[in-house]
Amino acid sequence: MMSLSTFTGKSIALLGLVFSSFALAKSSSKSWQTDATYTNTNPTNLAADVYVRWDTSTNAYWAYSTEGMDDGWMFAIYTSPDMTTWSKIEGGAIKNATESANWAQDWYWAPECYHNEETGWYFLFYAGRYTEPELVAQYFKYPDFEEGSKIGVAVSRSPSGPFVNIAAHPIDYYPFDPTYHDINLLMTSPYLVPPSSPSIGETAPNGTYIPSIDPNVFFDDDGSIWLFFSRNAYRNWIWDDEYAEYIEESNIYAVRLDDAWWNDPEAKTMPAVHESYKDVNQGKPEGWVTSVNSSFPGPTRRDGWEQIIAYHQQPQEWENAHVHDYIASNGTLKNRRWSEGSTTIKQYDSDGNAVYFLTYSANNYESPYYGVGYAYASSPLGPYYKSNSNPILSQDASRSIYSTGHGSIIGVKGSNSTKELYYPHHARPTVEADRYLYNARLFVEPDSLYVGFGADAGDLRLPSGVAPFSVSSNSTGNGTWTVNVENKDGVAFNLSSPANRLFAWIESGDASGNTTSVGVDVEVVGENVTVTGALPQGATINVVYQRARSNDSQPWLNVSQVTGLGADWELVGTMLD
Ligand SMILES: *[C@@H]1O[C@H](CO)[C@@H](O)[C@H](O)[C@H]1NC(C)=O
Ligand SMILES: *[C@@H]1O[C@H](CO)[C@@H](O)[C@H](O)[C@H]1NC(C)=O
Ligand SMILES: *[C@@H]1O[C@H](CO)[C@@H](O)[C@H](O)[C@H]1NC(C)=O
Ligand SMILES: *[C@@H]1O[C@H](CO)[C@@H](O)[C@H](O)[C@H]1NC(C)=O
Ligand SMILES: *[C@@H]1O[C@H](CO)[C@@H](O)[C@H](O)[C@H]1NC(C)=O
Ligand SMILES: *[C@@H]1O[C@H](CO)[C@@H](O)[C@H](O)[C@H]1NC(C)=O
Ligand SMILES: *[C@@H]1O[C@H](CO)[C@@H](O)[C@H](O)[C@H]1NC(C)=O
Ligand SMILES: *[C@@H]1O[C@H](CO)[C@@H](O)[C@H](O)[C@H]1NC(C)=O
Ligand SMILES: *[C@@H]1O[C@H](CO)[C@@H](O)[C@H](O)[C@H]1NC(C)=O
Ligand SMILES: *[C@@H]1O[C@H](CO)[C@@H](O)[C@H](O)[C@H]1NC(C)=O
Ligand SMILES: *[C@@H]1O[C@H](CO)[C@@H](O)[C@H](O)[C@H]1NC(C)=O
Repeated sequence: MMSLSTFTGKSIALLGLVFSSFALAKSSSKSWQTDATYTNTNPTNLAADVYVRWDTSTNAYWAYSTEGMDDGWMFAIYTSPDMTTWSKIEGGAIKNATESANWAQDWYWAPECYHNEETGWYFLFYAGRYTEPELVAQYFKYPDFEEGSKIGVAVSRSPSGPFVNIAAHPIDYYPFDPTYHDINLLMTSPYLVPPSSPSIGETAPNGTYIPSIDPNVFFDDDGSIWLFFSRNAYRNWIWDDEYAEYIEESNIYAVRLDDAWWNDPEAKTMPAVHESYKDVNQGKPEGWVTSVNSSFPGPTRRDGWEQIIAYHQQPQEWENAHVHDYIASNGTLKNRRWSEGSTTIKQYDSDGNAVYFLTYSANNYESPYYGVGYAYASSPLGPYYKSNSNPILSQDASRSIYSTGHGSIIGVKGSNSTKELYYPHHARPTVEADRYLYNARLFVEPDSLYVGFGADAGDLRLPSGVAPFSVSSNSTGNGTWTVNVENKDGVAFNLSSPANRLFAWIESGDASGNTTSVGVDVEVVGENVTVTGALPQGATINVVYQRARSNDSQPWLNVSQVTGLGADWELVGTMLD
């Protein structure tokens, strides 16, 4: 167990806390292992569309989320010493205030944060929606285009924010699809009933601007910067031969970005689409009218994009949870399919060939069937091939895990090696619950093009690189002490997080071992240990560090740690210890 006596192997009376033992532990260069676990059961951090990064300047993990922020803020931020025990940053990422230069009206979704170590700037990419008709028309031609989602970028000098928009408008990108039959123009509001045959649909005028959500910026190792995003399902009705109906789809697209914004030492430059994609659809389709409404001028640019994932490109049955929603909902929902929340990583196989892996989420986020699949490619733009093992993450009703998806891929301490990867994501403990922050080990094998998950439920081994822990206190004896538990890098755990706690007890009292007789009591609240009563000579107060278990009726785990590997120690990962 993890107590002050751990490092010396014999019991120490905490009346005289021995701090030198921690210094000893920390100065050791040996490989430390811990049996500490984490669990996704009884989740406590509200979060959705989770993006996690490791930050070298704070030696901590930082999570960015669509949900969980305080009133008056957009996006929640959490930080953690171990990727499993989180502290919420008060407020959120972007303040809903004039000085933030906010441009969108609602639907603030899916934040991701990238750090340029050379300039020191942190960039937050996210989606937001325009609802003001004049602004909607400026980007989508039609002032009543319902899902006018665009991608914005805010910056900060710190991973904890606050982030401020670089400009009061989205990135300089006008993705346009010149060949799409704009079927909405044949329909009436609320646009739930599409034409009954493709021959009718094909009479619709061609061309639509594309609403974009779920940005994921991919920095390739040749220096090129790519924006992966999801074409929001709205105004993307695709005829489906199997079901003989139009289904509205979201797809995953990519485009190259310029890099002036990334290298700007003052972070005042908005990201823009790379020159090679700018206005490439100009002149298409023939006869396109930019503006339908003289009071509201439409956009003039028509930029390009590449299709990365689309259901009809490689149909997989698991993505069909909502193709009958119109009838199932008595005509209140559309028949839809989603491909969204993508993350792309690059690896090399043992012959040195690049393999790009992309995870994406399908089905509606509110459905228990929301799940994760993956596809692979040999170049950033594909073609991508979906794995036949999809979905690789999905609900497990027997373990009360539903709606799993939209996470991000992170190596332990930010490493880009495949040795120890995680996929922090959101899921729900019941079909009615909000979305919470979950984490699961991800296994990636470039040689076999394999991506698969470790367990999502049960007591799960902590990511490596965390041990040795240290426990210290600013006081001894009776009264209130503050106890600090830190990881290897000196980053403290939040002992008020339900994921972990301190446990304290009095080991011996007076000569007869009776502490009751002197009314000594010890109580723990978060980081505070309060000892009341007159401590008899020789009394020992022990404090151990414990982790919550997945099964409430099991005792908390007393954390222990060893240097080197004992016979019954499973190696979690050696690269960083
Ligand atoms: C620690 O976690 C608790 C519970 O989640 C939270 O109320 C508190 O603000 C956190 N403390 C810090 C310092 O983040
Ligand atoms: C921001 O604040 C304004 C004014 O209080 C409010 O109308 C708006 O809904 C808020 N936006 C968000 C996204 O919370
Ligand atoms: C739409 O574009 C396609 C070619 O992409 C063309 O075959 C078709 O005639 C166009 N439809 C209309 C209604 O303009
Ligand atoms: C222009 O759009 C606005 C907002 O949708 C609408 O109220 C108005 O009637 C439209 N005007 C014309 C001429 O279509
Ligand atoms: C649809 O209507 C039927 C008949 O009125 C009703 O039994 C059913 O619960 C309704 N379903 C939904 C999803 O509202
Ligand atoms: C991972 O990082 C190493 C060291 O910085 C670098 O040489 C390698 O190219 C990176 N691999 C990928 C796939 O980015
Ligand atoms: C220990 O630290 C806490 C928090 O900073 C403080 O309230 C308390 O007074 C300190 N106790 C002693 C004995 O210094
Ligand atoms: C401890 O002392 C109290 C008060 O003298 C007595 O009531 C109690 O039985 C003692 N407990 C033990 C275990 O001896
Ligand atoms: C601490 O112990 C002393 C005697 O050693 C006693 O006088 C005092 O009341 C105790 N304080 C508390 C908070 O129990
Ligand atoms: C939880 O632990 C209790 C006590 O050990 C055991 O009886 C029960 O089967 C466990 N529940 C689950 C879901 O594992
Ligand atoms: C953890 O340590 C405490 C104190 O020694 C002990 O009471 C408890 O049984 C231990 N828990 C487990 C699961 O071993």
